[in-house]
Amino acid sequence: MRSEILRTLRNAGDSFVSGQTLCERAGVTRQAVWKNIAQLKANGFVIESVPNKGYKLVASPDALYPDDIKSRLADGSVCRKIESLEVTDSTNIRAKQLAEFGEEEGTLIIAEQQTAGKGRRGRQWESEPGTGIYMSLVLRPAINPVHVPCITLVTALAVAKAIKKTCGADALIKWPNDIVLGGKKICGILAEMSSEMNFVNYVVTGIGVNANNRHFPEEIEKTATSICLQTGRKTDRAQLAACIVNCFSQYYNKFKESKNLMPFIDEYDSLLANKDKEVRIFYGMEEDSGKTETGMAKGINKDGALVVNTKNGTEYIMSGEVSVRGLYGYV
Ligand code: BTN
Repeated sequence: MRSEILRTLRNAGDSFVSGQTLCERAGVTRQAVWKNIAQLKANGFVIESVPNKGYKLVASPDALYPDDIKSRLADGSVCRKIESLEVTDSTNIRAKQLAEFGEEEGTLIIAEQQTAGKGRRGRQWESEPGTGIYMSLVLRPAINPVHVPCITLVTALAVAKAIKKTCGADALIKWPNDIVLGGKKICGILAEMSSEMNFVNYVVTGIGVNANNRHFPEEIEKTATSICLQTGRKTDRAQLAACIVNCFSQYYNKFKESKNLMPFIDEYDSLLANKDKEVRIFYGMEEDSGKTETGMAKGINKDGALVVNTKNGTEYIMSGEVSVRGLYGYV
């Protein structure tokens, strides 16, 4: 109900909305509207109220307030429920715990801070409070487990598109799971699954966005940046988070039908930072040990593999099997 009030106020832009209209939209009494407006103000929303005119939303807080995100979700959104946490160890861990206990598809866990944010390959994800977006979505796709890696690429597409829509920035995808801006990383994606041989129990797709960070620890400052540092503008985190979920929903609903990435190849390749660049393929878990190969990245195929032309011919690199590093610099 509170999200309906927020949605109505936001859609009205600079105009006032009468108490009566809010009652009708939210399906509640005048008193309930008044109480909810008071609650929203207490949560940092600036709402002007003028007798005989009604209410106007003047400003929203810099917070990942669940009703705010809900109020921005589009029809057809995969998100059914939002759990918002001030601090958690990892939104992926929380989402997996819920999924183990039968949580349905569409629950979004979002946090202001993570104390044990997880990156790929056992790495840690720097999760400074109040500057980033840390969120994980519980999914239950009726697909074969072999197609689950495609969800990382679908998520990456959604993030790149949402950054373009809300921040106007041309973010690129570093296959398979990084989003880059200005040649540095602004987002990482960690999809995890629980499955049987031919059946997916659940997938959790976790997204960490460096939105408004100003500084990074020394170990990652050469490769990490934030949207704010790159664009010079502060990111509206709630707007971006909701837009990512909306974009993801569109791609994901389509993917559940196609069960492969055929419909997305052109769009993905147009955003691929590695495209027509020389890349080094690291076979095995460690990037500094084992066999490596260089080649020219040509794009992705319908299974989400990176197509690389090497001296031995065309190789199809599956996510998870190898790591791809540009020969020169991070991308
Ligand atoms: C990577 O680039 O290595 C993947 C990073 C994924 C980070 C996000 S933040 C939200 C979610 N919760 C986690 O613990 N990790 C993912």
